Amino acid sequence: MSTDTFPIRKVDHIRHFVNNARQSAFFYQHTFGFSVEAFRGLETGHRDQVDYMLRQNDLKLVFSAPLRPGHPMADKIARHGDFVQNIAFEVDDVDWSFKTAVARGAEVSIEPETLEDDFGKVRHAAIKTYGDTVHSFLNRDAYTGPFLPGFRPENQPGEPIGLIEVDHCVGNVELGKMNYWVKWYEDVLGFKNLISFDDKDISTDYTSLMSKVMSNGNGRVKFPINEPAPGKKKSQIDEYLEFFGGPGCQHVAMRTDDIVHTVSRLMARGVQFLSVPRSYYDMLPDRVGNIDEDIEELASLGVLVDRDDEGYLLQIFTKPVTDRPTLFYEIIHRKGATSFGKGNFKALFESIEREQALRGTL
Ligand code: FE2
Repeated sequence: MSTDTFPIRKVDHIRHFVNNARQSAFFYQHTFGFSVEAFRGLETGHRDQVDYMLRQNDLKLVFSAPLRPGHPMADKIARHGDFVQNIAFEVDDVDWSFKTAVARGAEVSIEPETLEDDFGKVRHAAIKTYGDTVHSFLNRDAYTGPFLPGFRPENQPGEPIGLIEVDHCVGNVELGKMNYWVKWYEDVLGFKNLISFDDKDISTDYTSLMSKVMSNGNGRVKFPINEPAPGKKKSQIDEYLEFFGGPGCQHVAMRTDDIVHTVSRLMARGVQFLSVPRSYYDMLPDRVGNIDEDIEELASLGVLVDRDDEGYLLQIFTKPVTDRPTLFYEIIHRKGATSFGKGNFKALFESIEREQALRGTL
């Protein structure tokens, strides 16, 4: 019987370091339909940085920006552009999690601390993972506030579009480093390798990559880790590493139970997605068999479909949401399938390569 050697309840929130948190919050409120629920900054006595917490169902995004030159966050943002800095975990016992992770080889980011305000207490600590990314450990069982101590409640509702929770978060690491981080997640956080893809699975005429999907003990936290593989031209992972300035989070997949509704609303609000040729949909019935959705409707939105032994999934990828070709989002709708859309890799990569060619980075 396998046991969970590092209990993690779920991803608590995803924190971004950005240049202008006010505008980032506005973007995610008015496109992805998040509600602004908590804030701290000058008005709450925080003189050096500002943080907005946005929520939709079980998805929490935090946008943090420095308020002064010379703030340590500013150096990291100057290097990477706006980026995912923290994939935070909710755990039963923060002190045990931190102590165990460090004993198993994790580097310390923040020693355990108790944060406190009128709503109660939160225990918090953080460890470093690839690049400038960290994992926080949080326990909010003794807290009733909207987010964390120090944040004041906000009531700026968005118009939700059916986003439910984080499905997975993908990290891009340097050539030769994928297995190092696979072992790190195994050794430190007790993750298991669910699936591996090599350059034969994921390649086109031009580019290829390798990927291993890591999952925690309860299966709720899934982290694919990519590294570039040598190809005729520069791979999308190389492009990311060059523009990001090292390894980092490439995309966050958000789960919906009605992808047609979610993507229709996102498109109406101006979010741009990768597209695939019409021929993809002509071949779809042979490839995936019967599905509940109308193929013409999926084609009009550009939603992709893949099937595995357990069912099928629908997915679509935004174009980068940052100026640099780095961070993007996936919208995923699972109908039984637990995989990641291997059957779509080729069509998807060709779509990414068309975008890379426009950027002059292929
Ligand atoms: Fe994904």
